[in-house]
Parts: sequence; C-alpha cells; structure tokens
Amino acid sequence: MLEQLKQVEEDALKALQAVHDEASLEAWRVTHLGRSSGLMEVFSKFGQLSKEEKPVVGQRANEVKQALEAAFGARSEEIQQAALKHSLEQEQLDVTLPGRRLPLGRLHPDTQIQRELYRVFGEMGFQVYRSREVESDEYNFQLLNFPVGHPARDMQDTYFIEAEGRGDNPIVMRTHTSPGQIHAMREYSARNPQDPPPVRIVLPGMCYRYEQTDARHETQFDQLEGLAVGPGITFSDLKGTLTDMARRLFGQQARTRFRASFFPFTEPSAEFDIECFLCGGKGCPVCGGGWLEIGGSGMVHPVVLENGGYDPIRYTGFAFGFGIQRIAMLKYGINDIRYFWGNDLRFLEQF
Ligand code: DAH
Repeated sequence: MLEQLKQVEEDALKALQAVHDEASLEAWRVTHLGRSSGLMEVFSKFGQLSKEEKPVVGQRANEVKQALEAAFGARSEEIQQAALKHSLEQEQLDVTLPGRRLPLGRLHPDTQIQRELYRVFGEMGFQVYRSREVESDEYNFQLLNFPVGHPARDMQDTYFIEAEGRGDNPIVMRTHTSPGQIHAMREYSARNPQDPPPVRIVLPGMCYRYEQTDARHETQFDQLEGLAVGPGITFSDLKGTLTDMARRLFGQQARTRFRASFFPFTEPSAEFDIECFLCGGKGCPVCGGGWLEIGGSGMVHPVVLENGGYDPIRYTGFAFGFGIQRIAMLKYGINDIRYFWGNDLRFLEQF
C-alpha cells in the first residue's frame, strides 16, 4: 500500500506539471484529491489493515495528502498571478495619455452680437424688453400707423398664419420688432396714465418675412429695436445715440451716416448706415457701395405715441430698428446671411 501511495503521489505531481489554467486545475483536483481519487481509495481501505500497518500507512497517506494539497495551492497561486500579469499587460491603462477632448459648445455669432449690443445700450441706460413673435395685424401694422391696405405694407412680405373670421386683424408672424414699441408703451403708460414714465428700451427678437433669399435676405432674421420716449427728446439725441453705438462697437474711427427715408411710424425717418470697415468705404462685395445699411430710425410718429398712451404734445421720442445679422456680417466680415441658420459647424466654429 505504501507502494501505491508513492505511485499516487508521483502520478499526481507529474500531472500537475501540465496544468496551466483554472479549468484544468479544477479537473486535476477532482482526479487526484476527489472522492474517487487513488488517494481516497487508500483511505477507504484503511480498515482492512493490520494494527502494525495502520500508523505507518496512515502517516504516509496524510503526508501525501498534505503534499498534494500544498502543490495544488502553489499551482493555483501561480495560475492567478499569470492571469493577473496577462491582464495587466493586455489591458494596460496609461494614465499619462491625454484625455479625450469633449466638444465644447459656444455662443452663436448672432447671440454674441446681441449680447454686445445689450452691453453697449445698457451702458447708455437702455433696458431689454422682450416681446412676442406671433402678432396680430393690429399690433404689427395698424397701431404703427400702417392702415389696412397701406402701400408701405408691401415692403414687409408677411406670413399670415390665421385669417378666418378675424376680418382686418389676421394673426401674423411679426415682420419687425416695432410692434413691441406699442406693447411696451402701453405697459409703461398703464402704470401712471396721467403722467407716464419715460421709456428707454431695446427690443430684440426674431422676425419673419416671405423673402426671396439671397446673400443679404433671409426669411427669418433678428432685429434689435430701440425706443426712447420722454419730454424734450430730439433728433440729435437719436443721432448721438446711434453714432455712439457704432463707435462703441467698431471703434472711435467708425463713420456713420443718416439718409432721409420713410417709415409710417416715424416722422422724420432716416436710414442708418455704418461705413464698411472691410473695404474702408471703397465698396466691396459685402457692402456694395462702401456703406452697410444697418436699419431704419426716426422720431416716433405722434399717432404711434398716442396709440401707446403717450400725449404727443408733451412727449417726443426716437426709435430705431437694426438687423442683427447685418451688424454681425459687418463685424466679422461674413459675406452671406444664409450661413447664420445653415447649421454648418465649419461656419459656427469660427466664432
Ligand atoms: N421696423 C422697420 C423694419 O423692419 C425698421 C425700423 C425703422 C424700426 C425705423 C424703427 C424705426 O423703430 O424707427 O423695416
């Protein structure tokens, strides 16, 4: 039986040499230490031994069992170490590698200009007043002194969104930010109808027109309207304010000009231009004749003041309305207004 034990031990240790992974190690354990292993067979025959043999064989069998268990433990440890080494090598984490860059958003060039204009006008005491994009014909036109059928409406090709049963007052997408003037004046004057407070606001927002699109016309565009109402406001206040704005935006050398014009809601009215700094006023594809048309302006028409709740005998005011994209084009040298809403990252990432 001692012979048998020796054989069991030799066979087991030899077999262990060939074991290199967890699965075959487990198989080895079942074969050589399990219930039907050669070793266990020796233990099961123990009862048949004589009194003299028992201690000798018993001791030897226990030695073999311990030896096999120790070999099993050592092998198991080796296999685990090898697996760990393998995974460390294969799945290396190099903490010195630079991280993956997260794409960082930024403000749309249009928003950047808007905020700059809020800052410039804020410094001059103007507050931002937000007004609706969907208007009634009454606010978009009639209260601004464009009566029904007035030819000046032809300058603003309008999207009508609901006309049925509304007679002369269909719902429209606002064609300009000017209707906000009426909303604002009515709100301000309602606070103290006998003695309405002065107004000094800018009104930003999207406007909509049914346009033939080209490099300078889009069907939607942002305007910035301005309105100042109070006793004794004059045309020179308007000129001073807009000239100052141009200088604050484009620098002290910025040149401006006012050209007589017509708007139903201002009298007198003027177009406001800034000299094109791309070509220095010589004329280029962006500006055409050296000047970039920024928008309209004028002294608030008495009818409009009255519609807003301000007595035109006691109060005067000036107003203006700019295309924000026009200013952005001038400032950044953009030659096509259609880029603004084209959603092309190659354009947007430049700002
Ligand atoms: N609302 C005019 C337009 O979109 C622009 C304008 C002109 C606004 C003169 C004004 C103004 O406030 O005084 O064509």
